[in-house]
Amino acid sequence: MAQLSKRIGKFPGYPLAKIPQRKRELLAKGVDVIDLGAGDADVPPPAVAVRALTEALQDPAMSRYGFQLGLPAFREAVVRYHQRRFGTAFDPMAEVLPLLGSKEGLAHLALATCEPGDICLVPEPGYQCYIGGAIASGSEPRIAPLVAEQQFLVELGELPRDVLRRTRLVYLNYPNNPTAAIAPRDYLERTVAVCREYQIALAYDNPYCEVTFDGYRAPSIFEIDGARDIALEFHSCSKTFAMTGWRLGWVVGNRELIKALTTVKSYHDTGPFLAIQAAGAAVLDRAEELAKDTVRLFESRRAGTLKARAAAGVEVAPPKATHYLWVPLPEGTKSAEFQTQAMEEEGVIVLAGSSFGPSGEGFFRIALTVGAERLTEGVERLGRVLARA
Ligand SMILES: Cc1ncc(COP(=O)(O)O)c(C=O)c1O
Repeated sequence: MAQLSKRIGKFPGYPLAKIPQRKRELLAKGVDVIDLGAGDADVPPPAVAVRALTEALQDPAMSRYGFQLGLPAFREAVVRYHQRRFGTAFDPMAEVLPLLGSKEGLAHLALATCEPGDICLVPEPGYQCYIGGAIASGSEPRIAPLVAEQQFLVELGELPRDVLRRTRLVYLNYPNNPTAAIAPRDYLERTVAVCREYQIALAYDNPYCEVTFDGYRAPSIFEIDGARDIALEFHSCSKTFAMTGWRLGWVVGNRELIKALTTVKSYHDTGPFLAIQAAGAAVLDRAEELAKDTVRLFESRRAGTLKARAAAGVEVAPPKATHYLWVPLPEGTKSAEFQTQAMEEEGVIVLAGSSFGPSGEGFFRIALTVGAERLTEGVERLGRVLARA
């Protein structure tokens, strides 16, 4: 057997890694599986995306390497979207970069900003590519636990000064996966101020900015003065437009950071498929209208399962954003055990809080990824597991 790097042993198990295989086995055995695990809704991508992709496929130029430049029309559509949606202006060539989904850009950013010995601040529970990026860069991932008592916010100003001095990158994600927390404006102002003071790169992960409810509008970090000095903001076609498998995202922000990330990516990938970028441009030009359909869908799923959730003891205050419910478990119930029981005994896939990092213990996450009727059935089955817990 070839020798593996020490680094490979440092990656914690990826939360979703084993689930698809087990799901296949259960389905093969005839189990009626309800999958509320990955944030991957059961709805088709927008017709405009499919049309634009089909058209683009007729053009042989679209089958060539895209490199990091990608399709200028996509960069320009990104700029128009940010201008309309957040009132922020970007140079399409210097302050935008197409991504193969936002995940790779987030993880690769650590290679562009962190050295061994540096600290990379990782919120937990959180999306696991942050810690993956930190480990790959050889830096020290420093966990920032997200706790309900602090509204799941990471208060950078409360960290010891020597930690801040060694920190080169911080990942933040609001609206948040998995807790569904949102970030107030004054919190973002405080955060940007600390990052500027200590020259820390801020990776603001914002793929759920359109999945918001009850009149809440999620901001961009670039609505905050000074953010351009230190921040990049990551976006995705995955959640808003149900295009998870297409692998298309983008990042905007500080031009030096964009340049550094472009350098790293040039050695790892050759950019998203150009025809998919053409579809992304078409979708972004209708983003607000398409996002309304997405929000309506998740709102109806949330509302449609309210009664069933109350009956099953799966109760959470309605979140202002994201299509996730972050549900507390009864005292002493281990979330990994609950996840296994839900899957093996009731055929329901949910994610254990601990799969988002140890600080997620005591919770599990439901993704509103199936219709209200199936969701209700799933919730009833989860209620049975809870009753046995
Ligand atoms: C917080 C967060 N960031 C980023 C992503 C990655 O999205 P994608 O790589 O599909 O653009 C996800 C996906 O679940 C996520 O939850």
